[in-house]
Amino acid sequence: MRTKLIAANWKMYKTPDQTSEFFRNFLPLVSGHTRDEIAVCPPYIDIATAVQAAKESNVGIGAQNMYWEKEGAYTGEISTGMILAAGCKYVIIGHSERRQYFGETDDTVNKKLKVALDAGLIPIVCVGEVLEEREAGLTEDVLRRQCTNAFRGISAERAAKLVVAYEPVWAIGTGKTATPQIASDAHVVVRAEAGKAFGKQFAEDLRILYGGSVKPDNANALMSEEEIDGALVGGASLDPKSFAAIVKY
Ligand code: 13P
Repeated sequence: MRTKLIAANWKMYKTPDQTSEFFRNFLPLVSGHTRDEIAVCPPYIDIATAVQAAKESNVGIGAQNMYWEKEGAYTGEISTGMILAAGCKYVIIGHSERRQYFGETDDTVNKKLKVALDAGLIPIVCVGEVLEEREAGLTEDVLRRQCTNAFRGISAERAAKLVVAYEPVWAIGTGKTATPQIASDAHVVVRAEAGKAFGKQFAEDLRILYGGSVKPDNANALMSEEEIDGALVGGASLDPKSFAAIVKY
């Protein structure tokens, strides 16, 4: 049985004060909820506040990005050591917005993944096709390429904590959700790639989240799919009631 992970990706939203307010309202709504693992990934500036607020709760905190060097002259970057020291458990790697606007490539994703795994963080590696790729029938090729490159040079043992999120770019922030069937089909491709890289048992145990316009009213249908092991939620995770409703799908 794979425990589902319901994770919030706040992107570039909320100040520390707004973060405190979110947790004040959100934690009572999910207290005692043990069926699913819950994570919130706020902007770096809010991590300390979030960790403090979620201390001794059933909610883990994550970062939205990281750099692979330990420390050094890398203005604006943050290392896994810093993320861990701040109290994070998770780190999102290779989100499509990072790939689209900040020059992330399959190669940087692979570098980050190795370092995040070695640091003991739970990496959430994002993959997914853009609309033109889907329309051109290239979805499977894109997912295979992104997965093969992300997983390159990593052993099953080292990859143990890996989580993958399938986020079709055309479904992100658009209100257009992939149907449970479309998501499941993509997850099968990702799982097969994980099987090739890490072996059958690993693939069976791998959690593959779906992300892209997950809302309280479509969460249940998506989460009922055997292949879907959780959600990575953007817009609908900013409101405590709406994110709690998704957690409790
Ligand atoms: P939305 O839920 O806003 O579509 O964003 C999805 C996403 O990108 C999560 O990482």
